[in-house]
Amino acid sequence: MIGVSLVGLGEIGQVHLSALRSSDHIQVSALCDLDEERLNGSCRGEWLTTHFDQILERPDVEAVDICLPHNMHAPLAIRALESGRHVLLEKPMAMTVAECDQVIAAAAAADRVVGVSHNQLFYEPHQMLSKMISDGSIGDLRTIRARLAIGGRYGSWRSDPSQAGGGLLIDAGVHRIYMLQELGGPVVAVSANMDMPGMEESYSIILEFSCGAIGTIDATYHGPSGLFDDQIEVVGTQAILEVAGCEAQFEGFDDGPSLRQWSNGAWETIETSDSWDRSVAKSVQAFFEAVSRGVTPRVDGVTGRSTVAVIEAAYRSAREGIRVELPFA
Ligand SMILES: NC(=O)c1ccc[n+]([C@@H]2O[C@H](COP(=O)([O-])OP(=O)(O)OC[C@H]3O[C@@H](n4cnc5c(N)ncnc54)[C@H](O)[C@@H]3O)[C@@H](O)[C@H]2O)c1
Repeated sequence: MIGVSLVGLGEIGQVHLSALRSSDHIQVSALCDLDEERLNGSCRGEWLTTHFDQILERPDVEAVDICLPHNMHAPLAIRALESGRHVLLEKPMAMTVAECDQVIAAAAAADRVVGVSHNQLFYEPHQMLSKMISDGSIGDLRTIRARLAIGGRYGSWRSDPSQAGGGLLIDAGVHRIYMLQELGGPVVAVSANMDMPGMEESYSIILEFSCGAIGTIDATYHGPSGLFDDQIEVVGTQAILEVAGCEAQFEGFDDGPSLRQWSNGAWETIETSDSWDRSVAKSVQAFFEAVSRGVTPRVDGVTGRSTVAVIEAAYRSAREGIRVELPFA
């Protein structure tokens, strides 16, 4: 059992809380949120506080799960790591690559583990997509098209770039970036267009993968009310694969087959059964189970940083009107 304190009991914090409570490997020792009503309403006997630093004084807190606005990810992760706690961060790992580097350095100095919840990697249709690309079922990978269209702009801290680190890209757009990295492999160059870089509400991005394939993302907040479209389509030389969307299913936008393939002139549905909230639960539980077993988590700090590096390159590309190359080792 690993003792975990959850920090941030908002929208995603509640999904983390259910996942933490339902794992046999995790003891939820403490909860922290600035909002006392939310704190009390979430409590099932855990120790409660509105002050982050107080959880770091408790011996039963071995790890901290951070579900906070983006500007708090790096500073609070560093405080927790320096106090000897392992840290799971919600996406994105931090607002900049420089912040990610500080978090990684703090983890190394304290010999603790940092990970990031890239939950859609755990969504079964996405895992099947990844496997069918890597085992050659679709032939050679040529293009990956990722959509993100939402019916209305998110508010609260998300509308403040100083708290969010940007607009739609560094918020819901993060899932598109790490999924394309998962499916296409290392990204060697990024070209982006945005309506308002840093406060973007619509954008398009081209990713060039080291394997020679191309990834495209088009995204907007300005769809009709009720829309959530996060479909992914993969084109190979032998087949096309389509995932109807991970959050689309959760938001009730899509009720078609989760995964289908077109090859030899016909569409075929590939049976899968999973959901967005289960992908979050699996992602959270996998991190703490990896830490308990002393193995590297699926999304460690280096992987989390690589996603922020692509996001940062996209902002630079959009601001300067250039194609930005990324170092590829
Ligand atoms: N994986 C996903 O699909 C997904 C979905 C939603 C949000 N997220 C991510 O989760 C994180 C949180 O987003 P959210 O939608 O849950 O936000 P939210 O606004 O719903 O919740 C944030 C919570 O943090 C609390 N808080 C703020 N500052 C605090 C502090 N200093 N100490 C303690 N508590 C504090 C607030 O009171 C609030 O309860 C972000 O990184 C976001 O990108 C991920």
